Amino acid sequence: MPRLTVDDLKKIKEDYKAMLTLREGGSRAKVTIHMGTCGIAAGARKVMEALLDELAKNGVKDVAVTTSGCAGFCSKEPMATVEMLNQPPVKYIALTEEKMRKIFDEHVMKGQPVQEYALAMGCETSY
Ligand code: FES
Repeated sequence: MPRLTVDDLKKIKEDYKAMLTLREGGSRAKVTIHMGTCGIAAGARKVMEALLDELAKNGVKDVAVTTSGCAGFCSKEPMATVEMLNQPPVKYIALTEEKMRKIFDEHVMKGQPVQEYALAMGCETSY
């Protein structure tokens, strides 16, 4: 796998910026792709591309896509967190493009978490 440069990362950010929407803007779901060094090394970029491809192909405009740093579980990367309105967040591990497309189809579009790819459901924050 070719080494990513700072310019590559800037380009990724610019490419994805156009796709981002804010929850305040009426998003019904948010998908966070964890793109720390470990995530990128494990293929998070391909997972992000698969998600953006599905959103574009299906004309979905009410799903926010964002990135974060390392989720603290390098050995399980690539990881993503799917948050649907009024549902607990679901953290997915060891993702591939195919798994991301299935998560898009079943969880994001139909509201059914894909349990076989999930690490955990719920939030570690207590209120
Ligand atoms: S880079 Fe993933 S836990 Fe440190």
